[in-house]
Amino acid sequence: MNLKETLNWRYTTKEYDASKKISDTDMAEIKNLLRMSPSSVNLQPWHFIVAETAAGKARMAKGTQGFFSFNEPKVTNASAVVLFCVKTDADDAYYQHIADTEDKSGRFPNDDVKNRFLGAVKAFTGIHKYDLKDLQHWMEKQVYLNIGSFLLGVASLGLDATPMEGIDVKALDEEFGLREKGYTSLVAVSLGYRTKSDFNSTEKTPKSRLAESEIFTVI
Ligand SMILES: Cc1cc2nc3c(=O)[nH]c(=O)nc-3n(C[C@H](O)[C@H](O)[C@H](O)COP(=O)(O)O)c2cc1C
Repeated sequence: MNLKETLNWRYTTKEYDASKKISDTDMAEIKNLLRMSPSSVNLQPWHFIVAETAAGKARMAKGTQGFFSFNEPKVTNASAVVLFCVKTDADDAYYQHIADTEDKSGRFPNDDVKNRFLGAVKAFTGIHKYDLKDLQHWMEKQVYLNIGSFLLGVASLGLDATPMEGIDVKALDEEFGLREKGYTSLVAVSLGYRTKSDFNSTEKTPKSRLAESEIFTVI
């Protein structure tokens, strides 16, 4: 499939074939996609809970009870579910950890370059932590960027997906002890294979988007 075909092929899957499992090879690709996403100053302010087993998905389904139950079958019948979590804070020790990781990856020819990088990390995070006072919100933006590239990436692997903000983040934070670890949950993405009967498939229901004339100003 070329890019245009992939963009039309992917859609928010509403009904999964519970008998189909994502291969180990594709699960490895999925984890690599999550890991390789860009983020501002390479902050990587995320953590991912990956539910691959029935027991893992049952735990994930604790976030799709009550008001959120419309999303429950998309969790239980999918092959896997990724819960995107964001850091609730960032401090000097974390910035140092990022710089040390870059260093180990061989990105700095000398300590001056490393210190300049660390200075940039502190400058940008400082703007958000102290001037704009939106550090957590800014870190969430980095996680959403990951989600965006993830949705296209998994489609390119021929996998169906469902991004879900309709989840009980408090219940999931409790289930996975996230807040104690400095994270909170944001969005879940189910992964697997569509059923033939899924009403939302682009074979049955065409995609709807605003017209080019409305969303572009080409100068
Ligand atoms: C961040 C985000 C959260 C979403 N939350 C849900 C959800 O909780 N349940 C659901 O069925 N669809 C959810 N959607 C799917 C959107 O409704 C869907 O992406 C949109 O209608 C465009 O359709 P398409 O994805 O099929 O192209 C979500 C999409 C995004 C990007």
